[in-house]
Amino acid sequence: MDEYVTLNYKGETYRLPVIIGTENECGIDILALRRDTGLITFDPGFANTGACKSSITYMDGEKGILRYRGIPVEELAEHSTFKETSYLLINGRLPTAEELRHFSIMLNDHSLVHEDMKTFFQNFPRASHPMGILSAMVNALRSFYPELQTTEEEINFTVTRLLAKVRTMAAMSYKISRGHTVVYPRPDLAYCENFLNMMFNTPVKPYEFVREVVRALEVFWILHADHEQNCSTTAVRVVGSGRVNLYAAISAGMSALWGPLHGGANQAVVEMLSDIYRSGGDYRKAVERAKDKDDPFRLMGFGHRVYKTYDPRAKIMKKMCDDLLSALKLKDPLLDIAKELEEVAVNDAYFIDHNLYPNVDFYSGIVLRAIGIPTNMFTVMFAIGRLPGWIAQWKESMDDPQWRISRPRQIYTGPSETHYVPMAKRKGI
Ligand code: CMC
Repeated sequence: MDEYVTLNYKGETYRLPVIIGTENECGIDILALRRDTGLITFDPGFANTGACKSSITYMDGEKGILRYRGIPVEELAEHSTFKETSYLLINGRLPTAEELRHFSIMLNDHSLVHEDMKTFFQNFPRASHPMGILSAMVNALRSFYPELQTTEEEINFTVTRLLAKVRTMAAMSYKISRGHTVVYPRPDLAYCENFLNMMFNTPVKPYEFVREVVRALEVFWILHADHEQNCSTTAVRVVGSGRVNLYAAISAGMSALWGPLHGGANQAVVEMLSDIYRSGGDYRKAVERAKDKDDPFRLMGFGHRVYKTYDPRAKIMKKMCDDLLSALKLKDPLLDIAKELEEVAVNDAYFIDHNLYPNVDFYSGIVLRAIGIPTNMFTVMFAIGRLPGWIAQWKESMDDPQWRISRPRQIYTGPSETHYVPMAKRKGI
């Protein structure tokens, strides 16, 4: 039975349809609201706005649920690979063995980047942040690979090319930033191994694969692969809605991800923990500062717009952090500080009242440190992981029968009509 919400305004009654999703989450359809009533909705930060219908990712922030195409992220983290999860997100279902094999071949075939791009990389100032470089390079792909992206085949080709090349470009930017020789992708290596090899292999010390490190990277990327309508995904959809090419839309997503309130939080967490460590380890002071409304400081890696309980990704990440460090026989003082800080924060009335729990970024930086990833590359690692999600969301938005260019409204609060005053008559300037 169709459901409606009734709105009474200026003596008139309006019926607004209710849309119900497969997990029974409900939304009011306001498509006709302005036409019928003259009203718009006001929702800064889109905190309570459904911008699309989507069949990719389901989150329940109250229960701490995250599923990709219906499959719990816990199951994917345990059994899947990043490549398989990417296929799942982009194509809507798990691949058969033959489809996965074909996908791997395509990723290998497209993993090289145009040699001219190397020169491009080398001309960035040395202190450039890798996220700035990556987003610029992804946008530049359009100039190096200007082929059309119109038919399904062309789009699939571009998608594979992007997935394959971003990994190479990320490792390349790291090597160039260190002044080292670039390591090319190897067709005999799987997705994660290939990346680790391109990052860490050197002519004097061949990179040795450690099973636990490879698995940690797989899981790290699986946990980041999609998160429905977050800031960067919204950027991809909004920029994509103007019908730009895929590279430009993804580059916009990367720029959005860079911010410390979003994907940049993984770098910010490790910087925060390092500051606490350097200044004597007083994590309680950080908790007190985070509660002080006169102090702009926030506990990085805590809080989430949707999760009002423990982020399910953070649970997996925390366990993986422990397992990885013990497998590698590593001791990281930042992990001890993180755990103590978490213990104090989750038992503190302010954090309880505000539903603030560790999010995915709280422990992920420690995992990345153990893998050997430098701190300024952390958000790039997030970006590689989020890429299949952005692509899936972009593809879905391109095929959406309700697609329209993104164009919100506003409540204007500036001056009413006023008139131009010639310079000679202006006073007080
Ligand atoms: N430390 C201290 N107080 C906080 C924090 C925090 N990390 N996060 C939120 N609050 C407080 C905030 O001060 C506000 O308090 P009050 O209502 O008393 O004024 C209340 O909680 C609600 O905060 P908000 O900023 O309105 O919440 P939001 O949904 O707009 O922001 C957030 C979500 C993730 C930006 C925010 O929690 C935050 O800044 N966290 C730290 C940065 C971080 O870890 N970001 C990574 C998010 S997970 C990875 C990803 O998907 O991007």
